[in-house]
Amino acid sequence: MTNVNTYIEKNRQRFIDELLDLLRIPSVSADPKFKQDVLKTAEQVKHRFIEAGVDFAECSSTKGNPIVYAEKIIDKKLPTVLVYGHYDVQPADPYELWTSPPFEPVVKNEKIYARGACDDKGQFYMHLKAFEAMFKTGNLPCNVKFMIEGEEEVGSDNLGPWITEHKNKLSADIILISDTAIIANDTPSIDTGLRGLSYLEVEVTGPNRDLHSGVYGGAVANPINILAKMIASMHDENNHVTIPGFYDKVKELSEQQRKEMAKAPFNLEAYKKDLNIDEVHGEKGFSTIERTGIRPTLDVNGIWGGYIGEGAKTVLPSKAFAKISMRLVPNQVSSEITQLFKKHFESIAPKSVKVEVRPHHGGEPVVVSTESAAYKAAARAMTETFGKTPVPTRGGGSIPIVAMFKTVLGLDTVLFGFGLDSDSIHSPNEHYGIFNYFKGIETIPLFFKYFAENTNK
Ligand code: BES
Ligand code: MN
Ligand code: MN
Repeated sequence: MTNVNTYIEKNRQRFIDELLDLLRIPSVSADPKFKQDVLKTAEQVKHRFIEAGVDFAECSSTKGNPIVYAEKIIDKKLPTVLVYGHYDVQPADPYELWTSPPFEPVVKNEKIYARGACDDKGQFYMHLKAFEAMFKTGNLPCNVKFMIEGEEEVGSDNLGPWITEHKNKLSADIILISDTAIIANDTPSIDTGLRGLSYLEVEVTGPNRDLHSGVYGGAVANPINILAKMIASMHDENNHVTIPGFYDKVKELSEQQRKEMAKAPFNLEAYKKDLNIDEVHGEKGFSTIERTGIRPTLDVNGIWGGYIGEGAKTVLPSKAFAKISMRLVPNQVSSEITQLFKKHFESIAPKSVKVEVRPHHGGEPVVVSTESAAYKAAARAMTETFGKTPVPTRGGGSIPIVAMFKTVLGLDTVLFGFGLDSDSIHSPNEHYGIFNYFKGIETIPLFFKYFAENTNK
């Protein structure tokens, strides 16, 4: 791949500058105030695909944000790789914790700092540049299609119907996604699973209006006190989730599989030091890697109610709210877990309050085989560029659409991420290493090469 690498080297600065341009547009999907920026980002991505040499590119509209679709078909008889990524980003709040503004990208210590630098603009853009390098040097070994969506961070609600509608156009042999992490820059890894998700909001109502906490306090249920108690009761002393039936479908790993998993390098002391915590916390009987990789969880993502302004206000609030997520593992089913939660939450509410559970989005867990031609091509490509065989790992995050790629399109996925857990995705000061960006751009063409070689049509 001398030509490809020379091309990448020659265009190195431009590849960085183009990513910085993309990072300047605040494509936050969660907040409608950024709608114009979301549309502008989609247009810019489409434009970059055209410049890179695709046959055609479009912003395909949906009920929500457009999906950028592009393709290069060199020979129908050759295999086709379908690349997925997302151009939307998480909200950048709290802004005051950023050392430089989230949408004014800067390069510091060989890292690009901006919201979306790693998740997922930096990572999907590696595919655009790898494609450009392959195509412009005459090294594209198979067909390629791209779908870059704008609603991943809010649950991909419109992508499911879109892939169902465009099933024929999306025919391919494999899905390739860079939206996960490796263990470390000297320890490549490939995720062989993702957790599913059940996300919901709860509302607890006490009295019909906010009350004076002295006049009524002690005699009327305080919904915040009640909600806190209900949430606390959802884990037992061993940090197991107490919702009846929650673990019924969880596929337990064999001792052998757990031993395999434990081989992945992991330094607990460094982990604690990085997070500035004295002790980790989680389900009894499982290691930290198992707790994030193969076990389901329940977490409060946000909780509010009452008075949170300056100073003090003595009030017994009428309402309390929380956003709760449950990460799921094979073979839990998102809609079933949501129902179990709802039933349980309603059953533990005291008569002094009313509760409402409002389901948000969900997604099913996935596992990826390490035996497929695609996984092997990915492992071989990484072995070549990192000089080490990648470790199979289980990712703790979720990419809800991946399960649907299998059920709707019948396609397996390779999770070819190059980020680091320490890149602060979804947090202030998100960043992406220049090393990781170019490692991805160099490794992707090798995946194409080995996948095309080993896939007979
Ligand atoms: N890229 C992440 C998912 C991820 C991160 C997987 C790290 C594995 C390792 C993705 O953009 C994401 O944040 N997904 C959301 C899903 C949700 C908003 C529906 C998640 O996991 O919270
Ligand atoms: Mn992502
Ligand atoms: Mn994300």
